[in-house]
Amino acid sequence: MPASSASTPSVPAPPDVRGIRISGWGIALPDKVVTNDDLAVTLDTSDAWIVERTGIRERRVGGTTSGLAIEAGRDALECAGLEAEDIDHLILATTTPDGIVPATAPSVQNALGIRGGAFDINAACSGFVYGLVSAAGLISAGAGRILLIGSETLTKITDMEDRSIAIIVGDGAGAVVVEPVDGPGSLLSWNLNSDGSLRHLLKCEYGGTLYMDGKEVFRRAVRVVVESAERAMAEAGVTAADVSLMVPHQANVRIIQAACQRLGIPEDRTVVVIDRYGNTSSASIPLALHDAITSGRVHDDDLLLLTGFGGGMTWASAVLRWDG
Ligand code: ACO
Repeated sequence: MPASSASTPSVPAPPDVRGIRISGWGIALPDKVVTNDDLAVTLDTSDAWIVERTGIRERRVGGTTSGLAIEAGRDALECAGLEAEDIDHLILATTTPDGIVPATAPSVQNALGIRGGAFDINAACSGFVYGLVSAAGLISAGAGRILLIGSETLTKITDMEDRSIAIIVGDGAGAVVVEPVDGPGSLLSWNLNSDGSLRHLLKCEYGGTLYMDGKEVFRRAVRVVVESAERAMAEAGVTAADVSLMVPHQANVRIIQAACQRLGIPEDRTVVVIDRYGNTSSASIPLALHDAITSGRVHDDDLLLLTGFGGGMTWASAVLRWDG
C-alpha cells in the first residue's frame, strides 16, 4: 500500500477492483525475408520437409531486440492514440536481450521517452502471457497504462548451420498497450507454470547457441498447452465452444493442430502466422494477435484464449474477453 498521512493520502487508494483492457497494438519485422528455399542452399533440407513438419514457409531475419521493440512499441502507442508520457511502465518479454546487464527494457524506454519502471521478463516463448499477467498485477496494485512488448532476435543465438533448429527460428516484435479499467476488465483467468527439471530440453548457455530436443519439446508442449488452456477456460467459466479465437504460441503448426484437436477448438478458430514468421518466441503471440485484429477476426466481447510454452520449461494461458 502507498505511504499516507492521516489527512492527505499521497496516492489515492486504488478502487476495489481494477482490471485491464488492451487498447493498442503494434508490430515490427525485419525487412529481410528468408524462405525455406534460401535455407536449403546451405542446409541439407527442403521447402517440402519444412512445410510438412512445421508449417513454416518463410521467416524474417535481422535487427536488434531493442530496435524491433522500439518500433513495435511506437506502433502500439500510435494505434492507441497515446504519447509516451501517457504510459507508466514498460515490460519487455524477451529471451534474446541486447546484453546481459543492463536489461533491454530501459533502452527501449529511453528511446520511446517513457518514464517509470522498465524491466525484462525471460519466460522464453511463454513470455508474452507472463508479461500480460504481470501488467495486470501492476495495474491492480495501482499502476496506470503499461506498454508490454515481446521482442526477439532468435537468429542471433542460433547456429544457422544446424538444420534441427535453424529452420524454425525467426526475428520480430509485437506490442500492446494495457490500460486500467474499473471493474474486472478483460482478463478473465490466467495460469503461469514452470518446471525447471526440464531445462535441458531447450537451452542456450552463455555465449552458446540454442539447443533443442525437438521431439521431446513437441510431445510435452501439446500436453502442457492442453492442460493449461483447459484450466484457464474452467477458471473463466467457459468451454472450448465459447472460445472465439485461440491465439497460440507459434512453434510448429502441428503442435497447434494437435492442441486444437484435443481441446475441441476447430482449426478455423485459431490464429496461424508461423508460415510467414517462423518461431519468434515471446513475440509470436502478439504477432498473431495483431494479425487477427487487423484482419478483422476479433470483435468486442469475443473470448480469446492465449496460450504459450517454451524453454524452462514454462507454459501459460490466459482467457480474455475482448474490449478493444
Ligand atoms: N530437414 C530435413 N530433414 C530433417 C531436418 C530438416 N531441417 N531436421 C531433421 N531432419 C530429419 C532427421 O534427421 C530425421 O531423419 P531420420 O528419420 O533419417 O533419422 C527426420 O528428419 C525426422 O527428424 P525429427 O527430429 O524426428 O523431426 P520432427 O518431425 O520431430 O521435426 C522439429 C523436428 C520440427 C524440430 C519438431 O520436433 C518440433 O517442431 N519440435 C518442437 C519445437 C518447439 O516447439 N520448440 C519450442 C520453442 S523453440 C524456441 O524457443 C526457440
